[in-house]
Amino acid sequence: MNIPARDRLIVALDLPEAAAARTLVQRIGAAAGFYKIGMELCMAPGFFELLEWLRGQGKQVFVDLKFFDIPETVGRAVRALSERGAQFCTVHGNQAIMQAAAQAKTHGLKVLAVTALTSLDRGDLDDLGFQCDVEALVLSRARRALQAGCDGVVSSGLEVAKLRAEAPRELIVVTPGIRPVDNRAESDQKRVMTPSRALQAGADYLVVGRPIRDAADPCAAAEAIQAEIASAVRSEE
Ligand code: C5P
Repeated sequence: MNIPARDRLIVALDLPEAAAARTLVQRIGAAAGFYKIGMELCMAPGFFELLEWLRGQGKQVFVDLKFFDIPETVGRAVRALSERGAQFCTVHGNQAIMQAAAQAKTHGLKVLAVTALTSLDRGDLDDLGFQCDVEALVLSRARRALQAGCDGVVSSGLEVAKLRAEAPRELIVVTPGIRPVDNRAESDQKRVMTPSRALQAGADYLVVGRPIRDAADPCAAAEAIQAEIASAVRSEE
């Protein structure tokens, strides 16, 4: 997939207020062009104004609300969101739900299916009643997402290589749980990976939240990841 290297970094704006999100975007400046807004910001006033503001700043927007409801309701939500100018949204759930989302999208909105949250490990899947292992679950959900007409999946870096081996190249793979250095012990993300390793494994986009948001200098943190992305992408060419 021919994605400009600098578009591959998606910064997660996990913040309590739209004003704080704007401040972070301004601090990051030209170091990132793609932002993810999700549940936390959606609970604050000004969510859609923030989306519009981001678009006005020339940024791409990933609306990560992980839609999960009856197919009719999910379809209607995706149709309404399509008008707002976002590039990506997420959907959860079974075939009928993913299909409803895929059929409803317009205006170039791309629907990504959540495979398994990167915060889940084997023990958590047992807890949810899934008997299969994480990798098998991710692969089966990715296959089903494609059949349903979704554009891509959200998947941890650890399953990307397997996904790439199995799924057609046009499947967009977005990978969260990225850590510039391997500091798994301090994180609730159990399946983490560095930017270069995730890209080498075949991820198209990387979602990075706390390592940028919580950095003393978010712009420098984002630029460091961009430099790592640029060199990983170059070495693949
Ligand atoms: O702070 P951190 O880099 O861990 O942020 C990861 C972001 O990616 C969060 O906004 C989280 O909602 C999101 N995400 C995830 N795993 C998924 C889907 C989305 O961690 N499977």
